[in-house]
Amino acid sequence: MQKLLTFVLAGLLVASIAFAAEGDSRVAIEMPAMMQDHMRANMRDHLLAINEIQTLLAAGQYDAAADVAENRIGMSSLVAHGASHMAGFMPQAMQDTGTAMHQAASRFAVISQEAGVTRDLTRALGALSQVTQQCVACHAGYRLK
Ligand code: HEC
Repeated sequence: MQKLLTFVLAGLLVASIAFAAEGDSRVAIEMPAMMQDHMRANMRDHLLAINEIQTLLAAGQYDAAADVAENRIGMSSLVAHGASHMAGFMPQAMQDTGTAMHQAASRFAVISQEAGVTRDLTRALGALSQVTQQCVACHAGYRLK
């Protein structure tokens, strides 16, 4: 197991060095400075929300974790985030990743509520990783100008 982990980590290191050598191949998105600030503020809150969700899951507070996910990242957060204003600046594939993230967060919220009854932490964590998968996917492809 230890050997496998070392192997995987070494592989990741080589991959990231190779990637860095190629320079920044992410697509640069242009949007007005105020919108960039707004988007970055949303992003920092997303990260904060993920951290809160993990803390709540660790404490077995599944319903509270569900609320954070739904209200801060899920479909219920779209209006508060001004998503429709920002979407116009994003290529379709980027918008789709954003939508997939909001949907995954709402799905996590339901699964976390269910876990409140079943105590199935493994399933809840799996659903949470579906959310962070979209963070990773979008960050790999896009940056702000
Ligand atoms: C639809 C695309 C997209 C999704 C989905 C997305 N992000 Fe981002 N995020 C961005 C872009 C673009 C930037 C700016 C990166 C840059 O310019 O280098 C960013 C920047 C950030 C930053 C830095 C903010 C700052 O102050 O500079 C954080 C933190 C962040 N994202 C967290 C998250 C988390 C956590 C998630 C998932 C819950 C997430 N993001 C999902 C596109 C996305």
